Amino acid sequence: MSRIVYVNGDYLPEEEAKISIFDRGFLMADGVYEVTSVLDGKLLDFGGHAARLERSLTELDMAAPATTEELLEIHRALVEKNGIVDGLVYLQITRGAPGDRDFAFPDPATTPSTIVLFTQNKPGLADSPQARAGIKVISVPDIRWHRRDIKTIQLLYPSMAKMMAKKAGADDAWMVEDGYVTEGSSNNAYIVKGGKIITRQLSNDILHGITRAAVLRFAREAQMEVEERNFTIDEAKEADEALVTSASSFVMPVVEIDGVALGDGTPGRVARRLREIYLDESRKTAI
Ligand code: PDD
Repeated sequence: MSRIVYVNGDYLPEEEAKISIFDRGFLMADGVYEVTSVLDGKLLDFGGHAARLERSLTELDMAAPATTEELLEIHRALVEKNGIVDGLVYLQITRGAPGDRDFAFPDPATTPSTIVLFTQNKPGLADSPQARAGIKVISVPDIRWHRRDIKTIQLLYPSMAKMMAKKAGADDAWMVEDGYVTEGSSNNAYIVKGGKIITRQLSNDILHGITRAAVLRFAREAQMEVEERNFTIDEAKEADEALVTSASSFVMPVVEIDGVALGDGTPGRVARRLREIYLDESRKTAI
């Protein structure tokens, strides 16, 4: 059975879904996206993802093609139509297809934005073997643009960083700017030292992770100590533990950085606890 996707108002089998070659997402990476996880057929942190989407659109002067309520309805319809129990919903909005290539933005009155959503089926998403073993990361320079707080579809460098990691026999890359870790290729980065959870403070230098916000809230509620500040890659290599968070990986322990094993080289206690708390708490509020 082919996947049912959503394109500009229509639910279609994926083979029938079409986008113009003049779409600015295709030509200019002029678009934004969100990834929302699904567990037990329900959406995690939908409100947070919808709020960040609205902010990304506003920052880029793009009109929202649907209300939050409509987006929720589309997400739920796709989950249902595709029988997703555990998986992801990908949403992308671009500045549309003006019918030619031009650096100037088209008039939104005549060029409506393009909206696409599709599901990814990931049975057992919350129980991944990677989470039990932990992942290995390498550090790479962060050469991305300086509005990383906007969730744009310009993902070439994160994709290259992922390939550099694979080539080096690792799982992912942490990006470093001026000696400090910004974030992972598609996740927020943390270290743990003396029981304290340390992660970079919010700014335009990193994506304001929805999972990050929830994890830090749950950690504080559980009386765990949290410090939001810059940390260097050298400090990270000397940490007791490390971890990353994202909608697709939840809380993922990091066991090695640039070939240096952290602690005994297995997922740390704090990372395991945070994963458990995050999954328990966010299942409770999933919709
Ligand atoms: N990536 N930082 C970057 C650069 C990201 O791409 C992501 C998410 C995050 C974590 O954000 P959140 O907790 O809201 O998922 C941080 C998604 C999952 C992706 O591109 O697939």
